[in-house]
Amino acid sequence: MSDDDLLRALVREHGTPLYLLDLDMALERAARLDAFDTVRYAQKAHPGLALLRALAAAGHSVDATSGFEILRARAAGFPAERIELATDVLDRATLEVAVREGVRANLGSADLIEAYAASGAHPECTLRINPGFGSGHSRRVTTGGPHSKHGIWHEEFPAALERAERAGLRVSGLHVHIGSGVELEGLSQTIAAMEQALRHAPDSVVRISAGGGLAVPYDGGPEFPVERYAAAWLEARARWQVELGRSLHLEVEPGRYLVAPAGRMVSEVRACKETPEWSWVLVDAGFHTLARPLLYGSYHRMSLVGAESRPLRPTVVAGPLCESGDVLTQSPSGEPRPVELPEARPGDLLVIHDTGAYGISMASNYNGFPLPAEVVLEGGQPRLARRRQSFDDLLALEQDL
Ligand SMILES: Cc1ncc(COP(=O)(O)O)c(C=O)c1O
Repeated sequence: MSDDDLLRALVREHGTPLYLLDLDMALERAARLDAFDTVRYAQKAHPGLALLRALAAAGHSVDATSGFEILRARAAGFPAERIELATDVLDRATLEVAVREGVRANLGSADLIEAYAASGAHPECTLRINPGFGSGHSRRVTTGGPHSKHGIWHEEFPAALERAERAGLRVSGLHVHIGSGVELEGLSQTIAAMEQALRHAPDSVVRISAGGGLAVPYDGGPEFPVERYAAAWLEARARWQVELGRSLHLEVEPGRYLVAPAGRMVSEVRACKETPEWSWVLVDAGFHTLARPLLYGSYHRMSLVGAESRPLRPTVVAGPLCESGDVLTQSPSGEPRPVELPEARPGDLLVIHDTGAYGISMASNYNGFPLPAEVVLEGGQPRLARRRQSFDDLLALEQDL
């Protein structure tokens, strides 16, 4: 069956909008990072159970941001020792789950140290450092530097270590994550920041994490050079091990790198219209199913199923929401940014590519729409991994109170 026929068949069965996720591709991309001792998947990118189960079965580890993500990882089969909670705020419910499940935390604020140590949680922790600089595809996903809330400011790090010692908390790991969509250019600076942190760190530190953020070529350009990235960290780690005279376990924590290209979203064209400047194509997917264009002005490749022979035209693609920001092709400042698409007609299927990361995980019920279904492909075979939310699901939380 051709890919177009597969998409048409899936849409006949499950309707639109419809998420698709290729689990084999996600696993293959995780395997590209095997030079690291641990690949810790940042599940905030896509927390689907089918995906988490596949990653758990392949022996990978997982990052959780909340108690609920810890429980989700446990439900998917991750043992507690392969889960790490990474947070700058330990809300009470999350702390309770971390204690109950025996999950170690990666603390991004020094004020969490005493509460965590006194809670009876895991006896060890990781400390996340804000190295004083950040990077990323958007200012909104830059997680280092003076304008970021994330991590312990590098100058405060020695004081945080003292606090941990006083609280009887063993610091066994160091973590640096400077942002999402990072390229290779700034890598030496990040590695130098880790080196600096290691100089202050006690002998109890036996794990280091390079963080995540590995860039994805949403424009179809060259892939992020993972081999060079891994080689730089491995070379630094080898040097530090000699200097420190002890082994250091090396982790990487990607989200989007594993899943963004493995995901697509199929929508249906419902209307086409013109304004003096733009040709509009209105589909049944919008920022309730893919928030990245609105949040960051992110670009996603798009294609029209079976329309390759039609003439191309610059097209602005927008969704069904009652909100002028509901445009799937927009610049970071919110201007419509047309893409070249074959002439569209109502009833056509429009595929939005590279939606596997921060697609369904950021979806909402805005304007009353239920969350779409998701189909995963495993061994080339499609299977429903998440049913479409029903109207009853939506009402259930507000009934019988
Ligand atoms: C601590 C941490 N690790 C990993 C990630 C994953 O980032 P990405 O999906 O860009 O790889 C994030 C993203 O927000 C993060 O905050």
